[in-house]
Amino acid sequence: MALAAGAERVAAEFEYTKEDVNRGVQEFIRQMDEGLQKQGATMSQIPTYVTAVPNGTEKGLYMAVDLGGTNFRVCSIQLHGNSTFSLTQSKVKIPQQLMVAKTSHELFAFLAKQIELFLKTHHNDHYVTHVERRKSYVGFTEEQVFSLGFTFSFPVQQSGINKGTLIRWTKGFDIHDTVGKDVCALLQKEIDALHLPVRVAALVNDTVGTLMARSYTSPGKTGTLLGAIFGTGTNGAYVEKLERITKLKKMGGVSAFEGETGDMIINTEWGSFDNKMSVLPNTPYDRALDKESNNPGIQMFEKRVSGMFLGEILRRALLTLVEDKSVPLFSDEHSNQNDFHSTTTIHEASPLWRQWGLDTSFLSITSGDNSAGLKVTRQTLENDYEVSAPSAEDAEAVRLIASAIGKRAARLSAVAIAAVVISTGKLEKPADIATSNNASLEVNEDNIVDIGVDGSLVEFYPNFEDYIREALREIPQIGPQGEKRIRIGIAKDGSGVGAALIALVADQGRKSEFH
Ligand code: GLC
Repeated sequence: MALAAGAERVAAEFEYTKEDVNRGVQEFIRQMDEGLQKQGATMSQIPTYVTAVPNGTEKGLYMAVDLGGTNFRVCSIQLHGNSTFSLTQSKVKIPQQLMVAKTSHELFAFLAKQIELFLKTHHNDHYVTHVERRKSYVGFTEEQVFSLGFTFSFPVQQSGINKGTLIRWTKGFDIHDTVGKDVCALLQKEIDALHLPVRVAALVNDTVGTLMARSYTSPGKTGTLLGAIFGTGTNGAYVEKLERITKLKKMGGVSAFEGETGDMIINTEWGSFDNKMSVLPNTPYDRALDKESNNPGIQMFEKRVSGMFLGEILRRALLTLVEDKSVPLFSDEHSNQNDFHSTTTIHEASPLWRQWGLDTSFLSITSGDNSAGLKVTRQTLENDYEVSAPSAEDAEAVRLIASAIGKRAARLSAVAIAAVVISTGKLEKPADIATSNNASLEVNEDNIVDIGVDGSLVEFYPNFEDYIREALREIPQIGPQGEKRIRIGIAKDGSGVGAALIALVADQGRKSEFH
């Protein structure tokens, strides 16, 4: 088979049709409802105890840390109260061995150490004064302590604004003794061991942070409906009606919120949508990836959508073609046909032979490659992936398959977004233009549905949002008119600012308890 035909055959396996999208949306809405009704459903639908989104007037100096992907970030945020903020931050890559450490202590002590370094570097006056004071006082007084929002982007069973136990690790983390523990208490313990003037005031999922940050900064007075991450992992948090979260009553927690906004932010944990695989697409490459992952059968949606996994899907698809003798991908004409490694131009030491060896950023590079003869793709293959002298045809095949994987991810993302928009009924008001023929109906501040997004895929994958929008238009309950009313905005650094905003809300809650 010619190379192009072979590549087209594999790319076609990733097609996700209009019918698939619509079936996906229906099932997504069903699983969302199930998660609101009972504990332990596939989609966790976790109540966050956050009942309002900010309006941009909030003020103060807060700290935030963010654990949840490739990096650990520490920041301080000055909220100016006029929808703007200043942010100082430091970032370190999380050492691989800490992601799978033997004990929680190893990871959380490392995090506390980074907070200490940050304070010394960026708030040294504050830090030194406190260390000085500590010599004469025991501990710190309330005013001297930074309130910190802890963005911890894993499924957590929250029981209060700064309390929550880890349900399971995702995204390659695996430390047994953390499961079932209160992660805020674990961090506070290590902070206290270093005598830092920091109080863990709020526990925040990155999606909740994104939602809050977008709501603080977004134009106009419309509150944001959904905060979504399409990065290393994928997940969304949205504003739900308290009365629809029927499991809260069973958990005995609803009365505390009566008389408030009538809303609560729900962390969907949609990464685990359809773990039972009733509607998700399932190629041989998806199956192999899952089987050899450290959590088979879990996070099945995430494994088809997010950055941690797309590179690995592509790697497996490419190797299947390389092994197919009838398709000349990366093939060495002058080779010894009896020795497999010498029939291919992929060097023996290439990361392409290793699990997780192909970085998802490569999908963005090749899908967006407009250079003549796909020079950029060929150079990247040669320099980063040790493929010798890849041909333009090789690069074309790689790009075709990579684009198919990226497009499927975007269309699946649209399923999640659409399900939230439809199930919250947000498009029905003030005019149901999805079903109206009035093509000239104006999109304005009053009928916009605002969505905040963050993560490397939405930010860097070429046309990710366009693919999402294309799929949204194919859903009858949204259609071309509804799609226009959906405003998607990047909430850059959302988790930092959002965590600060929740720390602020938590502080206000504490103060009103005391006064
Ligand atoms: C994973 C985590 C989730 C997080 C998402 C995005 O799905 O389980 O909590 O929000 O990644 O970082």
